[in-house]
Amino acid sequence: MRLQDKLKALGQNGKALLATNFYNFETLSGVLQAAKATHKPIILQLSESSIQYLGLRVAAGLARTALEEYGVEGWLHLDHGSSQEMAHRCLDAGFDSVMIDASEKPFEENVKITSAVVRLAEKYNANVEAELGYVAKLGQVQKVSQYTQPEEAKRFIDETGAHALAIAIGSAHGFYKETPQLQLELLSAIHAATPAALVLHGSSGIPEAQIREAVKRGITKVNLATETKNIFMKTLQQVLQDNDEIDLRKIFPQATQSVVKLIGEKLEVVSPN
Ligand code: 13P
Ligand code: ZN
Ligand code: NA
Repeated sequence: MRLQDKLKALGQNGKALLATNFYNFETLSGVLQAAKATHKPIILQLSESSIQYLGLRVAAGLARTALEEYGVEGWLHLDHGSSQEMAHRCLDAGFDSVMIDASEKPFEENVKITSAVVRLAEKYNANVEAELGYVAKLGQVQKVSQYTQPEEAKRFIDETGAHALAIAIGSAHGFYKETPQLQLELLSAIHAATPAALVLHGSSGIPEAQIREAVKRGITKVNLATETKNIFMKTLQQVLQDNDEIDLRKIFPQATQSVVKLIGEKLEVVSPN
């Protein structure tokens, strides 16, 4: 099933997909082991920096082959694509979905760039996610003035035809200094204003109860990155303390297992049985 159709179907049932970033074979394997064990579908995301790290064709091939090998229903998505060129390269490499993030641009320019990517993606039957409002990037503070406005969201989706929309409702990328408070009433208003699949970015560090409530109120894609990266590296650092094992195949699986556990828990929150 195309991702855009899956998201639409989930939206009608108050359910969501977990979209998790991966960085290497081990984090990919951990995510897929969790999805397989819980029999849940998943979105695998790559940021531009991870694509640069792995190589585009290696990354796409790895994700595609692993989905098949693990027997998991899943989609490959470009996270925070910064240009039409990058979206094009990913679509050519077989991605099911691309995000075009022109959220820092003025409204009309965001509409123009997003519309161009939507037209391009039609040729590939691919899903397009855009961002309106601004979700603070790593190390930035989320500003209330950058929250997504329902009327603008409606206009934006009407004008661009984007399938999915990343919205700013109080979340931010990375960990939080203080517990975040998602603007749930604002979310409900955006959901009532537009049929687009709504995406929650920055879910690392958001309390479980808030994520569950956000899904009930219309979020259909929940993005997770920092917690995955963090648990993998923290476990690795711990395992390697006073350990001179050089067979990496004996070391990495322990860090991979920590990812399996984390993603298993997140899947339960985002798409409970
Ligand atoms: P976190 O790193 O806060 O989980 O955010 C992930 C994200 O939004 C990826 O697009
Ligand atoms: Zn994001
Ligand atoms: Na976060």
